[in-house]
Amino acid sequence: MAVNNAVSTVFVGISELTTNDDELGQLSGVALVTEGERVVWVGPAARAPEADQRVDLGGRAVLPGWVDSHTHLVFAGDRTEEFAARMAGQPYRAGGIAVTVEATRAAGDAELAGVLRRHAAEALAQGTTCLETKTGYGLTVADEVRSARLAASTVDEVTFLGAHLVPPGWDADEYVALVCGDMLDAVAPHVRWADVFCETGAFDEDQSRTVLLAAAARGLGLRVHGNQLGPGPGVRLAVEMGAASVDHCTHLTPSDVDALAGSDTVATLLPACDLSTRQPLPDARALLDAGATVALASNCNPGSSYTSSMAFCVATAVLQLGMSVAEAVRAATWGGARALRRETGDGAVGVLRPGSRADLHVLDAPSATHLAYRPGVPLTHAVWQRGRRVVP
Ligand code: NIG
Repeated sequence: MAVNNAVSTVFVGISELTTNDDELGQLSGVALVTEGERVVWVGPAARAPEADQRVDLGGRAVLPGWVDSHTHLVFAGDRTEEFAARMAGQPYRAGGIAVTVEATRAAGDAELAGVLRRHAAEALAQGTTCLETKTGYGLTVADEVRSARLAASTVDEVTFLGAHLVPPGWDADEYVALVCGDMLDAVAPHVRWADVFCETGAFDEDQSRTVLLAAAARGLGLRVHGNQLGPGPGVRLAVEMGAASVDHCTHLTPSDVDALAGSDTVATLLPACDLSTRQPLPDARALLDAGATVALASNCNPGSSYTSSMAFCVATAVLQLGMSVAEAVRAATWGGARALRRETGDGAVGVLRPGSRADLHVLDAPSATHLAYRPGVPLTHAVWQRGRRVVP
């Protein structure tokens, strides 16, 4: 079945296949064929076509690789003490970001690249086959460009987050002018997305809108950090600006939920962050029941959420947020892809159907339910990314 000299592989012994395809749904008794970097066939195992290679998965569940649409992996330094103080009762403050900014600026390129690659590899080993990461710990033109360049060499999607915090010593409006001018000009060629932390202690609504307008004028897609530490304008602004995603959504009013449900903006929930900062957990049920699109992401960063485990996020979403297993798995795969606008077309991620990227996450379990049934147990058996076995 090989065309164009691409090697084809038929996967059999699949106990349960999550496709996230509206027509295919969740399947059993099926086989899947990849050719090169793509899935080319899904159907009854008894009718599986011949292929160059045959892989028997021995009765294991297969799902699309996780799509982690929110991380901050270009950083240096350590904030263990801040975490320990928080667990001893101190509140989380956005100002902690400045600690990582200082360490990141002081680090050499090789150190930053090493940290980034180590975390990307850690995520891949746990089944994350599509990864977004952000700048935002540089906050000078040179450091933001460096962060974007390093990120672009390692991950699938890069987001400019120059508007993460007003750096110490800066006037907020002067810093916003820098972000919207020289910084965006220099960083835009390296990134697809721009983001702003719209929150008390970071950027207010007007400043956030100014950043998003400047980014949109340069052709970047928009994302927003919103409603993380309290109710606020972030969600409303994200919807108004047509952002692809608004991330956190921890403190939502009923009108925020309605706005999301009536929009194309994905509500990306970051439950590991809420646990690690001792925030309440987001009302996933209200969002889903209203018809909003929900994604789950790790928010891996050294301050508010130092985990790359999407399985942990899925288990938490099921056990603590009231999501069903199917909803949580979909949110951590298709939802993340939708938040990055990569869920359709040739090479789509977060789905397994003919034409999609051949990113397969094989669990050492007969069904995806085990992700929540056996929380904390490492269930990744094997991972194929772009048709190539990368784990183990
Ligand atoms: O998504 N909210 C803002 N940014 C990160 C926090 C980063 C940090 O504390 O270093 C977040 O939680």
